[in-house]
Formats: sequence, C-alpha cells, structure tokens
Amino acid sequence: MKENAKIPPKWIVGNWKMHKTISQAIHFAEEIIPQLKGLADEVGLAVPSTCLHALAQVCKGTPLQLGAQNIHSEKEGAFTGETSAEMALDAGAQFTLAGHSERRHLFHETDAFIHKKVLQALQVGLKVILCIGETEEEKKKGKTQEVLTRQLQEGLNGVDAVAMSKISIAYEPVWAIGTGAAASSEIAQECHAFCRDLIRKLHGAAVSEKIKILYGGSVQAENVKNFFEQLDIDGVLVGKGSLTSQSFVRILNFRI
Ligand code: PGA
Repeated sequence: MKENAKIPPKWIVGNWKMHKTISQAIHFAEEIIPQLKGLADEVGLAVPSTCLHALAQVCKGTPLQLGAQNIHSEKEGAFTGETSAEMALDAGAQFTLAGHSERRHLFHETDAFIHKKVLQALQVGLKVILCIGETEEEKKKGKTQEVLTRQLQEGLNGVDAVAMSKISIAYEPVWAIGTGAAASSEIAQECHAFCRDLIRKLHGAAVSEKIKILYGGSVQAENVKNFFEQLDIDGVLVGKGSLTSQSFVRILNFRI
C-alpha cells in the first residue's frame, strides 16, 4: 500500500468567495464530478448563493456537497440583500460557512452574531463549518489561544452533543488567508490540538474525537499533504486553490 493511502479520509472544501457566474460554476462542477469516483475523501464547495440552485441540479446524486458561504442570523424579515438559512437549504445547500474571517473583519461580524447564524443553520438542518482564527497582531501579542477559545466558546454556546455532529471547525489564521504564506503544518497541528482539547472540555470526549477540524489559509497542492499528515487535521478549506478545476483536482489528488 502507498504511504498516502494510509491517511484517513479527509474533508476537502473549496471556498469560491465572490467568484464565478452560474455557467462558470456549472462548467467547474462538470469537470470535477468525474474525478470524485472512488475517492476516499469527502469534497464540498462553498459557492455564491446565486449559483446554489443551478449547481444543486448538476450535483444531484453525486458525492459533491454544496454549501453557502454565509447566511443571516434571523429566520426571515426586513433584511434587504440577505439570505436566510432556509433559503440556502431550499436552493440546494447542505452546509454553510459561518464566521469566515472576511465576514468577521470586512463586515464586522461579532461572535454573538455568528453564534445566532450557527443556531439558525442547525435549526433548518444545514451542517456548519465554523471558521475561527487569530489575526497577525493577535498572534504577535501571544493571544492565539485566547482568541480561539472565545470564538469557539461563543460560536458554539449551548449547542448540544447531537447538534455538534453537524458542526465542523475551520482553523484559518487570518495572516495565512490569501497571502500565499500558509501556517507551517506544525503550527496548524498545535492549534488544532488546542481546539480539539477545548471542545473536549466544552462538549465532551465523544464529540471532540469525532469533530472534523479543517485547516485553511493558502492551501495548495504543494502543501496539502503536509497538513494531512498531522494527527488533528481532518480536512482543508481552500480559497484561491479551488478557483480552477485544475488546481482543485491537484489538491484532491494528494494521495497519488
Ligand atoms: P485561501 O483562502 O486558500 O485563498 O488562503 C482560504 C479561505 O479564505 O477560506
């Protein structure tokens, strides 16, 4: 057996951010889906809300999972321009991101607001990838663990063990997102182990053993295997590297 075949199944998720029209999205999915046959790993794409419905038709009956990049914290109401959890589900999403650093920093989302989004998503049956991570300044001040603790504690406040089975975590250090300078696999492993231990304290050992903790921040075909060799890294969240089917397939093929 090849060394890489021994790596346990991973959860590989692309995050397209504000990229792709519907026809570009469909073209991408049609190129990716045949590559998923026989793959040991789970694959998902967090796509613009405008693409969800059309992509859901293309992905029906395939292993490619679709996600929203964002939902609103309220069930419905006078929130011009927003998408509710129910709308995302109805359009074909199986999961949603919550708390992505671009939402936290560019759109000033607070932990309390993100927590309400998590609850809304769970309420309608969407899986959630809760994104957490420290800024460069927080890292320099030695506050990484403090920030991760706050984001996990507040983001998952009151989520019971059953609902926790629908939650994954993405550790995405803000300084590594879109910079081309990924965290070293050792630093990522250290932070993932810290998060898993915190989840054990907050939600119990059974939840902490099962929960998937993804790494995100400048993941590419060249470094993905280093992350996957780490004990506590169960997957990756990939921005730029998921924008072309060629670069994404190279990441999916990390076992070859
Ligand atoms: P990146 O983005 O891979 O382009 O660094 C990751 C993310 O924002 O999820």
